[in-house]
Amino acid sequence: FASGCLTGRQVLITAGPTRENIDPVRYLTNHSSGKMGFALAEAAAEAGARVTLVSGPVHLPTPDRVERIDVVSARDMLAACEAAMPCDLLIAAAAVADYRPQAVAPQKLKKDPNNDDGLLLQLVRNPDILATLAQRADRPFSVGFAAETENLLEYALRKLNAKNLDLIVANDVASPGIGFNSEENAVRVIDRAQRETRFAQTSKGRIARQLIAFIADRLDKA
Ligand code: C5P
Repeated sequence: FASGCLTGRQVLITAGPTRENIDPVRYLTNHSSGKMGFALAEAAAEAGARVTLVSGPVHLPTPDRVERIDVVSARDMLAACEAAMPCDLLIAAAAVADYRPQAVAPQKLKKDPNNDDGLLLQLVRNPDILATLAQRADRPFSVGFAAETENLLEYALRKLNAKNLDLIVANDVASPGIGFNSEENAVRVIDRAQRETRFAQTSKGRIARQLIAFIADRLDKA
């Protein structure tokens, strides 16, 4: 592990799920635990960076020497990230909800007593936090994650280009024992030249330190 490889760098990391309220008691979310993002924040701080960690609702302790900002929705996460700009490096590990309910009902939604029909919930698109920050004039070196269940490399490359990223970390969340909510991960990093670097399955802490060393090296060369 290259100690001090991020000394003097300002690093912004997003982690966890977002929570999109439906009414005062219900919400939409996903299975992200935040473990990978928190492990990356810890590794980046160990590597000497000043780290801001913007996290959705998770049950994890804040790593040492990391400034943590808790948010709920995707729009909150975007606002917190914009307030934390500029930075040298952005690592977007959050599993941001792609859609949110069009409006949050002010009162708890009630079942219709007159029929047994289903309920249609109108959803609208959330902003893409990573793409928004990676398109700014003062864009940081931008690293995204692509959690896929099929066509891993094809989808990852598409995201790298569509979101204007420097690197994308692809992980196959359909493989047992890695990805969402698990203790371990195995990833491949793809760059703009479509070169692929593989990181074999190990704890999220070890993967995070390997990724930070790799990303710091590419950042230095950028
Ligand atoms: O498009 P997809 O959600 O699969 O892209 C994944 C990458 O984009 C991740 O790095 C994720 O943190 C980021 N993302 C984001 N804002 C969104 C959706 C995804 O920052 N609204």
